[in-house]
Amino acid sequence: MDKDLAEVQRRALQIGAVDAVVVDGKQTFAEEYVLPALQARALYEGCYPLATALGRPLIAKLLAETALEMGAGYVAHGCTGKGNDQVRFDVAVASLAPELKVLAPIREWGMSREEEIEYANERGIPINVKVSSAYSVDENLWGRSIEAGSLEDPWIEPPSDVYAWTADVGEAPTDPEYLTIGFERGRPVSVNGKNAGMVELIYKVQEFAGRHGVGRIDHVENRVVGIKSREIYEAPAATVLHLAHQSLEDLTLTKDAARFKAKVAIEYADLVYNGCWFSPHREDLAAYIASTQRYVTGEVKVKLHKGSCQVAGRRSDLSLYSRSLATYDRVHTFDYKAAEGFITIWGLPLRVWASVQARVALKKSKGS
Ligand code: ARG
Repeated sequence: MDKDLAEVQRRALQIGAVDAVVVDGKQTFAEEYVLPALQARALYEGCYPLATALGRPLIAKLLAETALEMGAGYVAHGCTGKGNDQVRFDVAVASLAPELKVLAPIREWGMSREEEIEYANERGIPINVKVSSAYSVDENLWGRSIEAGSLEDPWIEPPSDVYAWTADVGEAPTDPEYLTIGFERGRPVSVNGKNAGMVELIYKVQEFAGRHGVGRIDHVENRVVGIKSREIYEAPAATVLHLAHQSLEDLTLTKDAARFKAKVAIEYADLVYNGCWFSPHREDLAAYIASTQRYVTGEVKVKLHKGSCQVAGRRSDLSLYSRSLATYDRVHTFDYKAAEGFITIWGLPLRVWASVQARVALKKSKGS
């Protein structure tokens, strides 16, 4: 068990738990939650890579499984009554084990953040927040989410103590750095030519991208419960991997697949955000997305520099990009004559419209 998990167990026992089961879910999280979300291009409202939202269903699953193993009738969580996470935990538990009842004391007692902190202090429950810098932080392999405190004013620039994984641009290296990510069937498998499993690869990318200040996201988002909230995210690995994956899909997906998949991405991200991970609808979309990945094999080179991450090159043996078709050089394989014929047919409906209806409209406007 790594240090953090041992600490979690120690704290649970210290505050009076009769037993504490601690599970390292990183591998499962990376394989079964992060990977499908990466392949789906799941970015809520176009920017949030959903780290917290993806973590909740796995936590709920482990919680429900453990409760059932122990013959418990109840599970509990510490979410407030205002956020998305209560929705995700409650709905996930309901989808997996509807017989379990959920206790949510912070929600049920209507506790404010100050009251939570006081409650913990009065009872000797160790927490690492003070009322003066009361950020609420959630982190997992895929990203860090930070809210509350001064961040509640969307006009306030995030103070630098908000960040833990990414360097300030001013302190990032002056020289750019390149990273090459290899993909096989939509799965990232290597960094700079070295193979790595998902967990190791994510840590590696995070280290490079974080050093260059890549992956800070400041988002005013729409919560499931109807509130707009301001959240800061640090997601260096997710930022780089989403960009690289998308760029490889640009080479390898057909136009139809690329367009349709972009619509599915919005639906998929909403389902994850809204707590519907364990829904048949999400599973059906996941099956479609998994199928689209069969040709997404190749390499993408990205350039990290002073907070930015840009694609610097992509290649694939299965690329649908044909240089001999695309080139403006003298020697090419595209048939210009075919283009003329195509355009005649393509524009035919508009030519008919112009000669009948557009002409009537023009006459009317001149006559008046
Ligand atoms: N807004 C994010 C979401 O709903 C993160 C929520 C938890 N954030 C936090 N700082 N505790 O997924």
